[in-house]
Amino acid sequence: MAFILSPSLLSADFADLRQAIELINNTEADWFHIDVMDGVFVPNITIGQPVVKAIKKHARKPLDVHLMIVDPDRYIRSFKEAGADWLTVHAEACRHLNRTLSQIREEGMKAGVSINPHTPVSMLENIIEYADLVLVMSVNPGFGGQKFIGNSYRKIEELNRLKQKYNPSLVIEVDGGVNLDNAPALLSAGADALVAGNAVFSAPDIPERIATFKKM
Ligand code: DX5
Ligand code: ZN
Repeated sequence: MAFILSPSLLSADFADLRQAIELINNTEADWFHIDVMDGVFVPNITIGQPVVKAIKKHARKPLDVHLMIVDPDRYIRSFKEAGADWLTVHAEACRHLNRTLSQIREEGMKAGVSINPHTPVSMLENIIEYADLVLVMSVNPGFGGQKFIGNSYRKIEELNRLKQKYNPSLVIEVDGGVNLDNAPALLSAGADALVAGNAVFSAPDIPERIATFKKM
């Protein structure tokens, strides 16, 4: 089944990001998933625009930037300047989600909205046609290597029904605890894109692991 694989650089060696980027460049992976955390929306701090900009210099695949920050509106333009191609904000972090997604599109990026494991899919019903991507969190955001939360299958199926009704070109992406065991069921449920951090970067042979994912 054709799908988008977005390896999460959060699980790469931050002291050797360039090597990780070159490695991924030469595989069948489709995007680079980049996790931006502010220590407020989530209990962890990662990287910001300067590092995204540095990644962009070497990446030969689109940057899929996942903002886990409060009031992301303040930084939309700066992430565009840093090189984001897809920019995803959290529904829980936005006061005026319609405005935020419109601004992302106006800056020339694809607009994504993410929901935490406890957030119902139904809250997206009136925003879905203004989004290019919905990111379903299958862990509580903040860290790589966590255990997949099982209600995600049901949420993807529900989202897929909304997608067929209101926005057939929507990309449904899943992030958190994705591995070779649960990926087939996620794709059957309606996922179009899978983020994988630990499942890719902890593999003894990373290109081989990516090839195995893509063969699914
Ligand atoms: C978690 C991040 C994820 C993380 C996924 O908050 O949004 O992108 O890197 O890592 P794994 O695949 O290891 O769960
Ligand atoms: Zn992420």
